[in-house]
Amino acid sequence: MSLSWEIENYLEIQNDQVFIDGISAVELAREHGTPLFVYSERRIRHNIDRLRKVGAVIDCNLKLCYAAKAMSTMGILCAVKEADCDVEVNSGGELWKALRVGFRGPQIIFNGTSKEIWELEMAIEAEIYAIQVDSPVELAMIETTAKQLGKQANVSLRLVPEIESATHHGLQTALLTSKFGMMPDEALDCFRQYKDSPHLNLAGIHLHIGSQNPEPSVYGEAFEVLFGNLREIFGETGVRLSHVNLGGGFPVDYISGDENAEQFSVERRQMFGADFEPANAISNAWAAVKQAAENADASHLLDGITLLLEPGRSIIADAGVLVTSVRNIKQRPVSQPTANRQPPTDDWLLTDAGFNLLLSMATYHWYYHLISASRASAAHDFPYKLAGPLCDGGDVYFDVEGEGRLPDHRLLPKNVELGEVLVLLNAGAYTLSQASQYNARFLPPVVLIRNDGHAELIRRQDSFDDLVASDLWAR
Ligand SMILES: Cc1ncc(COP(=O)(O)O)c(C=O)c1O
Repeated sequence: MSLSWEIENYLEIQNDQVFIDGISAVELAREHGTPLFVYSERRIRHNIDRLRKVGAVIDCNLKLCYAAKAMSTMGILCAVKEADCDVEVNSGGELWKALRVGFRGPQIIFNGTSKEIWELEMAIEAEIYAIQVDSPVELAMIETTAKQLGKQANVSLRLVPEIESATHHGLQTALLTSKFGMMPDEALDCFRQYKDSPHLNLAGIHLHIGSQNPEPSVYGEAFEVLFGNLREIFGETGVRLSHVNLGGGFPVDYISGDENAEQFSVERRQMFGADFEPANAISNAWAAVKQAAENADASHLLDGITLLLEPGRSIIADAGVLVTSVRNIKQRPVSQPTANRQPPTDDWLLTDAGFNLLLSMATYHWYYHLISASRASAAHDFPYKLAGPLCDGGDVYFDVEGEGRLPDHRLLPKNVELGEVLVLLNAGAYTLSQASQYNARFLPPVVLIRNDGHAELIRRQDSFDDLVASDLWAR
């Protein structure tokens, strides 16, 4: 009988050990050390294929752009490109990496709230598919830059549609209180002002509701908003858009039956355990928009249009795990002993992976299911306090502020030993890409298990030199 977190032909228990694409996590830890990220190219492809199913439920073209900020190690970007998926970048640095990996301009879209001129120049020179414009001020900058380069920039205007998702506050991006995008009225004014500019191709409109959206219905709301704006833009300015962009945000089930998560509030359980088929959500949204278009005698506006999606998490989160080791063990009373009372003790495990690698564990109290790599089928029923290696009291796997946003204890097999290898599941997104060398800790190596089943080191562990690579100092 398989356990709830197992995924057939990818993440499985063999001989009591966690195996990833047929390779033992314990063996990988022995060969490469820990902490270690392990990714599966097959799973990346599986996830891209799953999203590609959206193309079959809409009567228009689909353009899938992987959100590079979720994980942009070059070997991963390369695997995404080889899976025929395009890319979304958020900075000149990510744009540079995408171009370096071999994405062509028309395969790239560029988001961001604070783009600099050099970044715009790079994007315009590369003739990317769309710069997603965050404000009217930015659009003016893009026009000026394109003019100076003697070029035309392809742009898509990012709207802030005031759609609320039941995700974490920090991951909401479509509320007026968020920092992103422009009001639909402002966008309309931009279309009026720039529709005849020879330096701007006003190609589309864009929104992104948020990340880890638990409710499929928000995609219907978002599509309705996009279509309403598309119609208004055409009606008021005559500009016919060639694409609309619904953003990313499809959820990943971070819990998958994990008993640790029973301590969550209902809302957090729903968010972390969210799971729906993107194709179903978009199918319903498309049907509603098509009907609205027919009712308004505006179906022609959907003819030949391209729908863009820019998912990150749903491509890469469950394709990666973080392998860590227990480096220290201690027992500690939960409170001060008194003369007539000996308080209970907690068993503490100190690992080599903390918020230097899992930043959102600290910022968003993000949850990663933890299992023993060498005793995977043993009962995970003994409570431990878990913490990382940093010299920082907030580097813990529980809610240090005591507000219960993470379980106080993690359940693992009894008698966890020094050196025991543990695996954090669904750790592929927004982890290494947010990691730091805090405490002068080395950024870890990354192994990608290729389609043919061989494990390839795609990033080496940092060296001492890497710790000072950018420092300018005289000895
Ligand atoms: C504009 C934009 N697009 C796409 C994404 C990717 O979202 P996700 O990784 O949840 O699919 C994000 C992340 O929040 C984003 O801000």
